[in-house]
Amino acid sequence: MKRKDILKTALAVAAVITTVFLYGCPPPKSEPVKAVKIADGEIDPAVWGKAYPTEYEMWKKTEEPTPAGKSKYKKGFDADKITYDKLAEFPYMALLFNGWGFGIEYNEPRGHAFMLRDQLDVDPSRVKAGGVCLTCKTPLAPKLEKEMALHYYKDPYKEVLAKVPEQHRTLGVACVDCHDNKDMSLRISRGFTLVAALKDMGVDPAKLTRQEMRSVICAQCHVSYSIPKDKDMKSVGVFFPWQGSTWGGITIENIIKKIRSDDANREWKQNVTGFKMGFIRHPEFELFSNNSVHWKAGAACADCHMPYTKVGTAKASDHRVMSPLKSDMRACMQCHTESVEWLREQVTAIQDRTVALMMRSGYATATVAKLFEMTHKAQAEGKSIDPALYNKAKDYYEEAFYRSVFIGAENSVGFHNPSEAMRVLGDSTAFAEKAEGFLRQALAKAGVNVPLKVDLELKKYLDNRGEKKLKGNPKFEFKDPTGVQEKF
Ligand code: HEC
Ligand code: HEC
Ligand code: HEC
Ligand code: HEC
Repeated sequence: MKRKDILKTALAVAAVITTVFLYGCPPPKSEPVKAVKIADGEIDPAVWGKAYPTEYEMWKKTEEPTPAGKSKYKKGFDADKITYDKLAEFPYMALLFNGWGFGIEYNEPRGHAFMLRDQLDVDPSRVKAGGVCLTCKTPLAPKLEKEMALHYYKDPYKEVLAKVPEQHRTLGVACVDCHDNKDMSLRISRGFTLVAALKDMGVDPAKLTRQEMRSVICAQCHVSYSIPKDKDMKSVGVFFPWQGSTWGGITIENIIKKIRSDDANREWKQNVTGFKMGFIRHPEFELFSNNSVHWKAGAACADCHMPYTKVGTAKASDHRVMSPLKSDMRACMQCHTESVEWLREQVTAIQDRTVALMMRSGYATATVAKLFEMTHKAQAEGKSIDPALYNKAKDYYEEAFYRSVFIGAENSVGFHNPSEAMRVLGDSTAFAEKAEGFLRQALAKAGVNVPLKVDLELKKYLDNRGEKKLKGNPKFEFKDPTGVQEKF
């Protein structure tokens, strides 16, 4: 062999070895760092940043606009605009959520630095629940909850926020939210929500492995929660509806059962039906950890959203937490040998399929809501509605609603657990269609003529949103990528 060929062969062998190594091994983890002692109770990231400048600089970048054009469903944003209006994106949500803050303003998420700033900017109806809204937004939440007890939950948002020292009133997720100040190990800071929920499932938080902690710290906030109300609709607490579930198996069925088990969890009144309902928020941890391919493969949230990265000569976990699509699938390549294009196409294909079914479930549920409106009108006009059919329809409607909201609120558009997302949406659609059947039957029995296609009046719900402040945000509406939705 010529020297050039020998070199070529050696390179090829090296490539194969590297590939096998990368594919067969878990991604590299951070190494222990020199522990610089941070004072107890120090929340200012700039102070932590003096000891750990690499992570601090990356963390600060979460306030920069994320790259546009790399993710179909999580577009980048302009610095002066808040983010994408989710109700314009999915108009059926404007109908279903009409009656409280989520029906007025509901946006796609953006970088961690913005969490409190966006809350100050959002329509005031969204923080009506009170101080409890700060739970996932300020590192001082655990302290305030301890000091103020019930008042932390029910006092007006602005009054509780005023107890945060002025210089930290716009501070979002901080080092202290995820790290122990003594040795920089990962630590749960929100004991009053997450630890309680883990214990309800029989999980001892002290026994979680390091890899599990790399997901669990995100589960302090990227989970669904309920805010129970007293009889005057004042907030009296906050909890994760995980009771009855297991580690690695928090199911939508159990979440719905828990929410429906207590009227205190009915946080708002839906205008179109007049029903008091519960709600489901950003269940990233629940969907991902429920037996997904990647959970089973041992991946953690941090593997995909905070990959170990070279920064100049240093190596560190990427603290600019964002969509892996926006950093060109770098995180995925720790385990996958496929190309960037292949991986991106897979993600988009999964998301397209999820959106297609999400539309089906959302519009089917919205149709039932409009039929309830029609039913209530008929009742008001003195028509008698079969109570058995009505109750069955209401039961199935709620089952459809919570399932649809679960996937609609989950921020990966199905990627975190594609087959489970499809199953949940399929069940939602089935429940909604059954409910529609019951109501059509009840209305026919009462002599009410129901049109073949129910008018959802979406424009009405989109355009009359009270004090909405969309600040010229880009508006776009997703078309069902399959085109099938037009038939419904
Ligand atoms: C203290 C609560 C909290 C913790 C802990 C937290 N997040 Fe977030 N995260 C948020 C909030 C709130 C937003 C939305 C901010 C906004 O839109 O203003 C967000 C946004 C995001 C985004 C969207 C970023 C973008 O560019 O649009 C990603 C991705 C994300 N978080 C992943 C994670 C991961 C992974 C972890 C764990 C390593 C984590 N988060 C821990 C509260 C938290
Ligand atoms: C196997 C990789 C992987 C794992 C593990 C993972 N995610 Fe994701 N996540 C993704 C992908 C891919 C997307 C879709 C991003 C897009 O569409 O641009 C996403 C989207 C998100 C978003 C929305 C991002 C945005 O820009 O709005 C959030 C928030 C998020 N994930 C949080 C989490 C949390 C919390 C966990 C753990 C419970 C987790 N992810 C686990 C790959 C992963
Ligand atoms: C949302 C949670 C979160 C926040 C906020 C956060 N970190 Fe981290 N940090 C992590 C995770 C996850 C790791 C990886 C730890 C592991 O694998 O054990 C990490 C690792 C580290 C490490 C070890 C070296 C490395 O880069 O892997 C240092 C040092 C560090 N973080 C500093 C900081 C500083 C300073 C801040 C605030 C400016 C901060 N972190 C904010 C989640 C967070
Ligand atoms: C910790 C390692 C790890 C990381 C990081 C990781 N994956 Fe995977 N992924 C796996 C394993 C293991 C499987 C299952 C075995 C297989 O089929 O390759 C898998 C399967 C998949 C599949 C097939 C899924 C299915 O449901 O059948 C897709 C698509 C995928 N990964 C995309 C991604 C993308 C995109 C990212 C980055 C956002 C990513 N993966 C990050 C390890 C990983």
